Amino acid sequence: MTTLMAPLLDINFPNKETMDKLVLTATAAALLSGSKGLLAMDESTATCNKRFAALGIPQTEQFRRDWRELIATTPGLGEYISGAILYDETLYQNGKDGTPVLQTIINAGIIPGIKVDAGAKPLAGFPGEKITEGLDGLRERLNGYYKMGLRFAKWRAVIAIGNGIPTAACIEANADALARYAALCQEAGLVPVVEPEVLMEGTHELQVCFRVTERMMRAVFTRLYLQGVLLEGIIIKPNMVNPGLTCPVQNTIEEVADATVQCLLQSVPAAVAGIAFLSGGQSGELATAHLNAMHIRYRSKLPWPLTFSFARAIQQPAMGIWQGQEKNKRAAQQALLHRAGCDAAARSGEYTAAMEKA
Ligand code: 13P
Repeated sequence: MTTLMAPLLDINFPNKETMDKLVLTATAAALLSGSKGLLAMDESTATCNKRFAALGIPQTEQFRRDWRELIATTPGLGEYISGAILYDETLYQNGKDGTPVLQTIINAGIIPGIKVDAGAKPLAGFPGEKITEGLDGLRERLNGYYKMGLRFAKWRAVIAIGNGIPTAACIEANADALARYAALCQEAGLVPVVEPEVLMEGTHELQVCFRVTERMMRAVFTRLYLQGVLLEGIIIKPNMVNPGLTCPVQNTIEEVADATVQCLLQSVPAAVAGIAFLSGGQSGELATAHLNAMHIRYRSKLPWPLTFSFARAIQQPAMGIWQGQEKNKRAAQQALLHRAGCDAAARSGEYTAAMEKA
């Protein structure tokens, strides 16, 4: 007699596929744990040099190393930062005492991640729009990064708002690249941080940013589904829903918080491991205040952890203090830790403006 019942005990459980999923989910959970967030310190050489140039800091490999070492050696950083997104150059740099910067980050209890896209390039046939490159050879690069100890990765797509843009061509091409990148990351055991950034440049109102962000997010999740990406093993890194930088109407903190959460509730499935915002050119204080307001107003209604993955909003004040000079290092580290601490407080809705004066 044949039985149609499945055996009670599956001797192949847990199989490799199940274990791989558990590992991805656990990594994502660790990155989103407690009140911590991510620190993006993955500026490409060109972007890092641009930030240095604005402050009169020499644009050399040594100064980029010194800056990243300053961040990595900030005492107590691991209290607020769960993961740091690095740039490839940093992986091969040692601090002044010879310790690899990557090792210093791991020793601080911070999970190391890596930017793996090759940058946003002009989208052929669509002036003013960009497509992020870097899929060729990505599988091999991801396997190499995993062996070096990296456990998550980041890919940034940029969507500009303007006259007639974004086009469907730009949205679909970037969503497709994000999904293919995410699938490759998960195959390699790395948690993909999926970053579809709607830029703040422009005169558009908040509602326009809302519509474009929602449209992009829906396109991304359609593609993630098509590529079989495990939602519990990804982190979404979106922009906050803001009016354009030169829009005559600048909204209140509460309006931005409401628009951002409502947009994401409409478009990001509850199964996603978590959301970690980019700062996108907002000041450190404003980015913190927005995150804080989201938690105060939506605390019990959020289906996913909501945290930060800021670059400029954490680094910029500290870089301005450092100015490339060793004598300013300690004060710069204090400024960095201060911003990270304020952002961690915002995750619990416990940030207050008074903390800025303390
Ligand atoms: P900002 O926080 O400066 O926008 O940078 C975040 C980031 O990782 C951009 O890719």
